[in-house]
Amino acid sequence: MQQHKIIIAIDGFSSCGKSTMARELAKKLGYSYIDSGAMYRAITLYFLRNQVDYSDPVKVMEALANINLTFEFNEEEQRSNIYLNDEDVESYIRDMIVSEKVSEVAAIKQVRAFAVGQQKQMGKKKAIVMDGRDIGTAVFPHAELKIFMTADPEVRVMRRFKELYATNPHISMDEVRHNLELRDYIDSNREESPLRRAEDARILDNTALTREEQLKLVVDWVKNLSPKMEPSI
Ligand code: CDP
Repeated sequence: MQQHKIIIAIDGFSSCGKSTMARELAKKLGYSYIDSGAMYRAITLYFLRNQVDYSDPVKVMEALANINLTFEFNEEEQRSNIYLNDEDVESYIRDMIVSEKVSEVAAIKQVRAFAVGQQKQMGKKKAIVMDGRDIGTAVFPHAELKIFMTADPEVRVMRRFKELYATNPHISMDEVRHNLELRDYIDSNREESPLRRAEDARILDNTALTREEQLKLVVDWVKNLSPKMEPSI
């Protein structure tokens, strides 16, 4: 009998380990993983490189018409990288210069419609884990499993600082803290699908959990869904 495939939606604050967990979970289930934040970051990179005046909706629409986003699996890194108009931009989109603007760009109505439309398409065949800010509320409101992740703010700052410090020794903790606070504020207070916990999302606070512990917890949640939905693990 064919196993029933499901959609897993993961939302939460900046830098609380959503991508790490989502990627490991997708691997374990044999599902695809989509980092929706990478799409908003790649759009922001395009706007910055092309000096798009994103306060002008006409300029935004013109720019979006020239943007093609795809995800391709990189064998060497064993992960999917995002391509902006056929260029692998994975190594540019995490730069602070993009992080500083991404929440403003992601708050634009036309940008969200562009990204969400593509994300919904990706979920058509199910068997997908997607993480972001509005996945359980706007992209896949009928996802079979919704998770809202959170972690202590200082733990989140420290995790992101360590990640960024590896490629940029000039970064400071204050800069990272300020960026996370600002993004969480803009993401939670914007008009278009703000960051919210979907009513039916399970909360996962991973402040004191190891990667192995949190993965086990979530795999157990998947196993305990109605047997009809259970994917092969
Ligand atoms: O990994 P990190 O927590 O830094 O953030 P991300 O997932 O890469 O997302 C970067 C930014 O994109 C967020 O701060 C949001 O402004 C925006 N975003 C969004 O609006 N909706 C999503 N579904 C995903 C990201």
